[in-house]
Amino acid sequence: MDNILVIGANGQLGSELVAALRANFGAQSVWATDIREPESSEGQFALLDVMQGKELAAFVAHHQIGQIYHLAAMLSAKGEQHPQLAWDLNMTGLLNVLNLAKENTQLKVFWPSSIGAFGPSTPKQNTPQDTLMDPNTVYGISKLAGERWCQYYYEKYGVDVRSLRYPGLIGYKSLPGGGTTDYAVDIFYKAIQGETYTCFLQEDTYLPMMYMEDAVNATVAIMQAPAEQIKVRSSYNLASMSFSPAEIYAKIKVRYPEFKIAYQPDFRQHIAASWPQSIDDTCARQDWGWQHKFGLDELVDVMLLNLEKRLAPAKPSL
Ligand code: SER
Repeated sequence: MDNILVIGANGQLGSELVAALRANFGAQSVWATDIREPESSEGQFALLDVMQGKELAAFVAHHQIGQIYHLAAMLSAKGEQHPQLAWDLNMTGLLNVLNLAKENTQLKVFWPSSIGAFGPSTPKQNTPQDTLMDPNTVYGISKLAGERWCQYYYEKYGVDVRSLRYPGLIGYKSLPGGGTTDYAVDIFYKAIQGETYTCFLQEDTYLPMMYMEDAVNATVAIMQAPAEQIKVRSSYNLASMSFSPAEIYAKIKVRYPEFKIAYQPDFRQHIAASWPQSIDDTCARQDWGWQHKFGLDELVDVMLLNLEKRLAPAKPSL
């Protein structure tokens, strides 16, 4: 079988996706790569910078890579602080991967888009697959442009590129960094550590969210689906649940009655307010059989169960 390359493997999604790919396809066929050494590495790892196109091409040829999961990107909040850097990384990285796949159309590519590709004029409820998209963050602009590039390379050059518009991703194994949806991970740590959580979004800010296991399963499933089932070559809407800070706080408080929350919205509120509150993912369900497993109750259960184990008895701070 062709080998698999994960770029940005140390990130929130990458670290969990690599584990799932190794479990599914064998540890020997999966290469985890990033620009920094991982904190702990159990399988094959190499330093690789997606911005260096020649090195990327050499790596892919040398290791007989057949699939690339290109996850390296700067997220929404950090992107607003480093607009030029975010654009360069998010665009050049993707184009380097797509150009490689253009030369070798046997290469299959996965690239993540996001709810951040939508903007203030997008319908907020049950946001359709095809709708008005006017992102007003650098991250969102790069995701929308990336979607158009994916479709372009598919149509012009036959590149088999597949993509999902992820909601906010929540998992207990790895921390997000620099995103607007990060609060929904941070809040669990504070609850278990017995601290007040100061939320950077308003209490009534609804956003689409997803438990990491569902996101990983969707990613593996779309890459495994026969090519003819992938009818959307920009990026698929993907959904499982939506909630606000007040709602997730109320669920956690049932288990931690002393837990307190304070609200201090900052610039990230403005970003969140420009995004959809819920997503219509009918196309993904119909085209390649997407189904989610985790709703809000299941999410809270699995996060608390696992973080309680992980954080006790030592209580590292974030
Ligand atoms: N989770 C991302 C962010 O908050 C959105 O895709 O930036």
